[in-house]
Amino acid sequence: MNQHEQNQLRCGVVVLVSGRGSNLQAIINAVRSGRLPAEIRAVISSEPGAPALARARTAGIPTYTIDHREFATREQFDQALMRRIDACNPRAVVLAGFMRILGNAFIDHYAGRLINIHPSLLPAFPGLNTHARALQSGASHHGASVHFVTHEVDGGPIIIQAAVPVLPGDTPETLAERVLGEEHRIYPLAIRWFLDGRLSVEGGRVLLDGQQRPEQGLTHQETAHSDTPETG
Ligand code: GAR
Repeated sequence: MNQHEQNQLRCGVVVLVSGRGSNLQAIINAVRSGRLPAEIRAVISSEPGAPALARARTAGIPTYTIDHREFATREQFDQALMRRIDACNPRAVVLAGFMRILGNAFIDHYAGRLINIHPSLLPAFPGLNTHARALQSGASHHGASVHFVTHEVDGGPIIIQAAVPVLPGDTPETLAERVLGEEHRIYPLAIRWFLDGRLSVEGGRVLLDGQQRPEQGLTHQETAHSDTPETG
């Protein structure tokens, strides 16, 4: 295999979306500017009308819709998704606002190369409505996490986190916007680390170049733990 073929194998990405696609846009922009040496081979949406699809088309990326409503079971939906993804032979499968829960067979198939972004400082606030829940909890900080996907929803090893302060007068919307700015910064970076082969997982922790490093921003994890409501 020559150098070009090796690069091709190394840099392929498929992005799964369901909605607005601002994280997809951040990834597209990073590829375009050279900050992320990747080839986005396809954008696949679970929602036919997702604005993310238009963003992909504008960028000249092949798009596909796999509408979950057309499948009798989640397994059938997952299988169709897997067939479409595998046809692109990607190194990484990136969830960017993909709002379907994926089954275990899917997760196992892409283990170690399936990456998600979640709008909270995990393990605080897995699931939905993270911004409202963060406000309600009285947390002083909130943020976003990029993590490998495992069977535990929003529970996989964390690659990078970014924190923002919760400010007086914040609403879920103002807080979401502040967090989103950080999401757009950290997601392309995490994907780059992954494609560059710099990440490994040891004992449930993600290491960058063999150690947990400050640029992973993981210092808020302990704070996040204590912010997690017991019922959360
Ligand atoms: C982002 O905030 C992302 O973190 C979140 O959905 C939003 C999608 O926005 N993802 C999840 O909640 C996954 N559980 P976008 O479509 O503009 O990227």
